[in-house]
Amino acid sequence: MFENIKSADPDPILGLTEKFNLDQRLNKINLSVGVYQDSYGETPTFDVVRNAEKLLLNNASTKSYKPIIGDEEFGLLVKNLVLGKIITKQRGNTAKTIHTPGGTGALRVVMDYFSKFHKDSVFWISKPSWPNHKQITNASNLNFNEYSYFNFEENGLDFNNMLNDLSRIKRGDVVLLHGCCHNPTGVDLNQSQWETISDLLLDKKAIPLIDFAYQGFGDGINEDSEGLRKIVQKNQESIICSSFSKNFGLYSERVGALTVLCSENILLENVISQMKVCIRSNYSNPPSHGGDIVKLILSDSTMRKEWEKELNQIRNRMKNMRNDLVLKLQKFNSKKDFSFIKSQRGMFSMSGLNLEQVKELRENYAIYIVDSGRINIAGINSNNIDRLSESIVSVIS
Ligand code: LMR
Repeated sequence: MFENIKSADPDPILGLTEKFNLDQRLNKINLSVGVYQDSYGETPTFDVVRNAEKLLLNNASTKSYKPIIGDEEFGLLVKNLVLGKIITKQRGNTAKTIHTPGGTGALRVVMDYFSKFHKDSVFWISKPSWPNHKQITNASNLNFNEYSYFNFEENGLDFNNMLNDLSRIKRGDVVLLHGCCHNPTGVDLNQSQWETISDLLLDKKAIPLIDFAYQGFGDGINEDSEGLRKIVQKNQESIICSSFSKNFGLYSERVGALTVLCSENILLENVISQMKVCIRSNYSNPPSHGGDIVKLILSDSTMRKEWEKELNQIRNRMKNMRNDLVLKLQKFNSKKDFSFIKSQRGMFSMSGLNLEQVKELRENYAIYIVDSGRINIAGINSNNIDRLSESIVSVIS
């Protein structure tokens, strides 16, 4: 039965880390997968997460199932975090947040739901985007189209072409936007561009689907939500997929959330009830540990402050690394101007390196970045920045 099955290609991101782990070279550098590394190259658990875990362990009395959509309190706390107090109040019972296994789990629930009830909706994905967006769309047997987003020559946003492409969307289509820290480019919309997109979606009666995996990694927890808050204030029907892998460092706990907004409570309850059916036949109910950590930290004012402090440190380190990388590349006499890296946001930078240069870095210098040229800025530290910069200058020469 299985004799005709061919091996699948390795995952473009996680497959690279598998390759990296097998690499025996001692000076290897992993700038591929989007996992934060500190100045020692480690991915430490947040102190506040460790403290929360101790408390949870001491008070744990059950391993019983969570509800299909997770705990109500988790949902309310995350809704506030994502939408902010004002919109949460304004939208009242027309917005609901549920607990999912990671942002990927949230995206898959959305797509399974669309596949069942709105099969003709086309998903519009930015070019480029996180490769898993297309993969999940395909897995749910939905159609997708791409819209221009990044100008590869100028290393910046291609807003005119983005608008041009999105002028073709139809009523009921879904436009997938990155809430902040666009993955893979690090290039975000400014507030007036968010406003324009928001009006366009409203005009076209399209559904905004916002992937919000990096809240707090760009400019701050509230600052990073400004764009999506503009969207949901105008667009009664909107969907947001959050991940707590990066901003709580809870990668392996698989904790995320799905926020659905509708024009009326009864519509929202109907949609959520159908999403519950999708969840039940997929993973049944969410894993508890990560969700309990997020719930505890967000509900306790002292822990919440500690979390914000640690998140600020991470954000500032990434900003410093961006500046340092640009300076080092100049120091090693780069013939190319990389100063655009400084204006990008979050964990990633679209370096402008082509596939040949990426492969040369991997093969000859043991430096792993994604084929698209995406660099994980958080993997840079004072021990590897010289070798990295020198190697980049060498492959572009
Ligand atoms: C990434 O883009 O590297 C991260 O979001 C990890 C992943 O799952 O791909």
